[in-house]
Amino acid sequence: MNKYLNIALPKGRLGEKIYDTFEKAGYGCPSIRENSRKLIFESEETGVRYFWVKPSDVAIYVERGAADIGVAGKDILLEYEPDVYELLDLKEGVCRMAVAGKKDFRDDTGKTLRVATKFTNITEKYYLGKGRDIDVIKLNGSIELAPVLGLSDVIVDIVETGTTLRENDLAVIEEIVPISARLIANKANYKFKSDETDALVRALGKIVGERT
Ligand code: PRP
Repeated sequence: MNKYLNIALPKGRLGEKIYDTFEKAGYGCPSIRENSRKLIFESEETGVRYFWVKPSDVAIYVERGAADIGVAGKDILLEYEPDVYELLDLKEGVCRMAVAGKKDFRDDTGKTLRVATKFTNITEKYYLGKGRDIDVIKLNGSIELAPVLGLSDVIVDIVETGTTLRENDLAVIEEIVPISARLIANKANYKFKSDETDALVRALGKIVGERT
């Protein structure tokens, strides 16, 4: 495994865009473009081996060293706080973590606020910082349903275009933090692959620097 720089990419639309960036930066791996169910691709020419990984699992592969490098959303990094280096903002998958609720929502500070979310750690820290008492309701998807059906008062979720909120008569109440895809690295592996990793960061940095 050691000869190659092992890179975990998030499987899906975002991952394909991220791969395009790596290719532009000189880290192409032509076989990855072939339609197949394979999950591992390597290029002897550029010295990289790519893995398609479920987006929320990328940080686990990198933290445990099964991948040297990976691309993970800042939402995942804030939620799970993996012990990895964060090397570069790739400026893809740009969105924000926000509190949202019904358009007429008014916070009654005399009551515990019921918050539905996938991101319980981010939510607890955010409201702890505000000194607001909350009851976190952990959901796994379709979070927007919760305030509509009265399961929660508000939600903490990712907002990209705002379409999901709009189409369910919800609105952003507060923004928590901007989110985008980040290049991360395993701390121990970085020690003996620092030259290769730094070269990759420089090459990607040039491409990303052209984005605003
Ligand atoms: C995310 C998020 C919102 C939606 C926001 O869901 O949870 O539901 O995208 O995007 P928009 O502002 O452009 O409408 P995702 O599609 O990642 O799936 P999920 O339901 O599993 O969270």
